[in-house]
Amino acid sequence: MTRVGVGIDIGGSGVKGALVDLDKGEFIGERVRYDTPESSTPLAVAKICKTIIDELGAAPEVPIGITVPAPVLHGVIPFIANLDQSWTGINADELFQEVTGHQVTVLNDADAAGVAEYYFGAAKGVAGTVIVTTLGTGIGSALLYNGILVPNTELGHVELDGRDAESHAAASQRVKQDLSWEEWISRLQRYYSHIEMLFSPDLMVVGGGVSKKHDRFLPKLDLKCPIVPAALRNTAGIVGAAVYADEQAKNNVPTAPGV
Ligand code: BGC
Repeated sequence: MTRVGVGIDIGGSGVKGALVDLDKGEFIGERVRYDTPESSTPLAVAKICKTIIDELGAAPEVPIGITVPAPVLHGVIPFIANLDQSWTGINADELFQEVTGHQVTVLNDADAAGVAEYYFGAAKGVAGTVIVTTLGTGIGSALLYNGILVPNTELGHVELDGRDAESHAAASQRVKQDLSWEEWISRLQRYYSHIEMLFSPDLMVVGGGVSKKHDRFLPKLDLKCPIVPAALRNTAGIVGAAVYADEQAKNNVPTAPGV
């Protein structure tokens, strides 16, 4: 029998959800998407999540994972960079449960992508230290050691040359600051060299929308460890959220089968 979960990914421009086959890491049926409301308050976004869960027809026992672009500490959001500031201090677990009427697990968006890449994608079963970064509006990060997620690493906000790294090197900045690919690549080089120096990872994986164009920048980065494009691309957040929620329901840490 197919084991099913629900994943919902809350981003700056869209809230997307799907039913997920937990063993294959694939969507079952179509993805549902709504625009993130202009006023992206917790309540407005939670209501969209309820609509998505209802449309997907999730049974009450199905695990539901919801990602936010912020760290999540025992359900609480300590700060948020790219959504409405009223998220700060909110207990997202409680709010989302109240509004959706379902038991839900809320987690960081990049952590979800990291779990998905580890279970099904570019980091599948890789031992040692793996860092998954997502390049989008911000820079998200997931740190896994032997498949165990160390949550909320927030490596997009390391201070580099006196600046918040994501405000300098996120994919959105290439467009916003009208940078050439070469200019942006030199910022990425500085960023990834720094992360490599701090963590000595065995593997780095790069996701986010721009990873579709990985040919244009990944081969130009000079690093000691391999750096590869994410395999799941835009399904990673949703798949990882569903898998993580399922593991949490079983009281497991997210470790891939066989590791
Ligand atoms: C947030 C992270 C998030 C990343 C990608 C950053 O600004 O602080 O929590 O993972 O953006 O959305």
